[in-house]
Amino acid sequence: MTPWVPVALTRDIEPGSATGTAVNGAPVTLWRGADGALHAWADRCPHRGMRLSLGFVRGDRLVCLYHGWQFDGEGACRHVPAHPKMTPPSTVSPVCYRAVEHSGIAWVSTADSSDTALPERPALEAATEPIRSVWITAGTGRVIDRLRSEVDDLVLDRHVAAGRIDGVEIRAGIQEIDETTTAVHVVAVGNPPVETVSRLVRRLHDIRDFVTATAEAVQL
Ligand code: FES
Repeated sequence: MTPWVPVALTRDIEPGSATGTAVNGAPVTLWRGADGALHAWADRCPHRGMRLSLGFVRGDRLVCLYHGWQFDGEGACRHVPAHPKMTPPSTVSPVCYRAVEHSGIAWVSTADSSDTALPERPALEAATEPIRSVWITAGTGRVIDRLRSEVDDLVLDRHVAAGRIDGVEIRAGIQEIDETTTAVHVVAVGNPPVETVSRLVRRLHDIRDFVTATAEAVQL
């Protein structure tokens, strides 16, 4: 059972971008510097609590939108615009989580950094082709129920579904955003042709639409 939570396809997090997501119920900002390094931090600025995911990336630093404090990839404050000559205090730092990229998927762990039991990365095949992330307006249970119908020979881990769709080996990272939203990040094992990738994308959209419509019908 992997303690790593899938949060995105790696190709979808471009250098110089920041976005918000959720890991185990905690708001997280996910950002990638110009150096290509991926970071996952608690979505809260250590200055006045602004959401860091609303900030922007400048070079290899994340800049808070509110007062412009700049944080480097290690979470150290490097610049305070209101006091440009001041050396920022080393104690002011966002909560930094561990982030890894593996099998075409970005993974985050909010476990304490002293937790040495955390495996280096999820146990998945390395050679994979990114297919698509879909966000489904339904809880994780409904999404998994549908995957049981759509994915042949499904093997389910806590955050990973493995099996075949239309004969293609896929791995799906399952991310609970909240009680009513689930993200599914799908990669294919190997190097399927373009037509196969397109077909898999359509199947994923069908799954998303079916689960969303079913969830809405139950709520009516
Ligand atoms: S709240 Fe982030 S810099 Fe002030």
